[in-house]
Amino acid sequence: MNNRIIEGFIVFEGIDGSGTTTQMNRLAERLKRLNIPVRCDSEPTGSVAGRRLRTLLKTGNAEDPLFNTTMSSLFSLDRALHVYGENGIISTATGGVKLLCDRYFWSTAAYQGVNGDVDEILELNNAFPLPEYLFFLDVDPNEAVKRIDRRNAAKEIYETAAFLEKVRTLYRAALKRYEDSGMKIFTADTSQPADETEAFIASCLDFLPKCR
Ligand code: TYD
Repeated sequence: MNNRIIEGFIVFEGIDGSGTTTQMNRLAERLKRLNIPVRCDSEPTGSVAGRRLRTLLKTGNAEDPLFNTTMSSLFSLDRALHVYGENGIISTATGGVKLLCDRYFWSTAAYQGVNGDVDEILELNNAFPLPEYLFFLDVDPNEAVKRIDRRNAAKEIYETAAFLEKVRTLYRAALKRYEDSGMKIFTADTSQPADETEAFIASCLDFLPKCR
């Protein structure tokens, strides 16, 4: 396993509806109030590969093996541009900016792993550096789908409770392999109010003042 850790790189993972975007944004606001330089990114990104992925997330057939392999490859290509590109993760985080990211390669392992091979996907993503902090936001898939329904946007192909149940199981399996990687990994139960999750996440970050 590649154990290169990028200091200041913080990843949020979890099934759709688990609150990764909300918590990333809340943390960013908290850091800004403390005058800590911060940037929020998300995958898929706005690259050519990322834009194509956004379309495929609305129209594809998750169970088609060729489609699934294509998704794994496209997500990894998008990620390579994100990590190593100009103003990418490495150049930004090593420049002293806290780089928060909504999803990283554990999303590929968990989502494309449902109709693919998790080990092969992790191997495909093995060259990517690891974040200093990894937050896994965990919620019951039925509750997650209720939240997605309340958003009222057109559903994407992976946003069903049955699919997300499998994604959740694969997340746990994939994250377990990184227990000894040196990353600081935390699981937050996001069935609790968002304020509590936010406070928990802040309490995990060694670089923040402890009494607030
Ligand atoms: P999400 O991050 O929830 O953003 P939005 O709410 O704006 O749609 O959606 C991204 C979707 O892409 C989500 O269903 C998970 C999926 N995904 C993968 O399947 N594999 C990946 O590697 C990544 C990064 C995302």
